[in-house]
Amino acid sequence: MTLSAEDPFDDFVLLTPRLIIIPTPIAVSLASYRALYSDLHANVAFCEMAFGHHLPAERWSDSKTLEVIQQRDIGRCWKPRGMGDFAVGRRMPSTPGSDPRVQDDRSELIILRGQDLVRLAGPDNVYFENIEWVGYAGVRDATTTSMPAREPGDPALPSWREMVELRYGFSPQVWGTGVGQEAAKAVMQWAVGERGVLRFIAETERENERSGRVLKKLGFVSSATDYWKEPIVCKAQETILGATA
Ligand SMILES: CC(C)(COP(=O)(O)OP(=O)(O)OC[C@H]1O[C@@H](n2cnc3c(N)ncnc32)[C@H](O)[C@@H]1OP(=O)(O)O)[C@@H](O)C(=O)NCCC(=O)NCCS
Repeated sequence: MTLSAEDPFDDFVLLTPRLIIIPTPIAVSLASYRALYSDLHANVAFCEMAFGHHLPAERWSDSKTLEVIQQRDIGRCWKPRGMGDFAVGRRMPSTPGSDPRVQDDRSELIILRGQDLVRLAGPDNVYFENIEWVGYAGVRDATTTSMPAREPGDPALPSWREMVELRYGFSPQVWGTGVGQEAAKAVMQWAVGERGVLRFIAETERENERSGRVLKKLGFVSSATDYWKEPIVCKAQETILGATA
């Protein structure tokens, strides 16, 4: 489970009342999660909603999925900034190896590490392979990942900790159950508490009303900024520390 010594990544998972949220540097090794990630990106309706014209639906092989997660998320997000996407699955009370103390406290965000994590994961993460995956949620430094290169004359940007992009995508089977909001909130709380994030930004396709509602519930407000230089297609949104509490 542990990455190479150079990686600035300390193994942990997040638990919310209904969800187990696993950083992709761990989840990438789970075939069951890669299958869910591949399915989402092969789903035309999902891709149109999430990415508009940027990323058409495509069926990736397992090796391509592995490569995409390793390059786009672990390589570009987790390694430089210690944050990125998380795999989101249903938290099952009956998961073998679960710490009873953890199962008792389902009211708040729990960050599980060390022996508690080893007990939950089982040998070689065997218990994680059986999780029912429902989607992904993540935070990343937008300035070095999704934003177009800055040009002469562009206004100066705040520090990257004020430019952290929230992103998420869930299987249509779980839409309308609140897991999107629950997972996004957990990842944001983790990013503020554990990585010192000061402000989140997000963009949605204008037609993506569901995502707009999720962002609103998380405290995002429409922004006049044009970080992604796509004012016609997308709505920029931002929230500041404390707005999500
Ligand atoms: C965007 C996306 C995550 C929103 O999904 P969602 O199901 O609407 O969002 P949530 O999981 O937070 O669920 C919220 C809904 O569940 C309902 N709900 C039911 N039980 C709930 C519970 N226990 N807690 C909270 N909400 C609950 C809420 O009332 C709300 O419905 P409403 O918006 O009609 O009022 C999902 O549509 C998606 O993955 N889309 C494709 C990818 C995408 O667009 N990503 C965003 C790119 S910007």
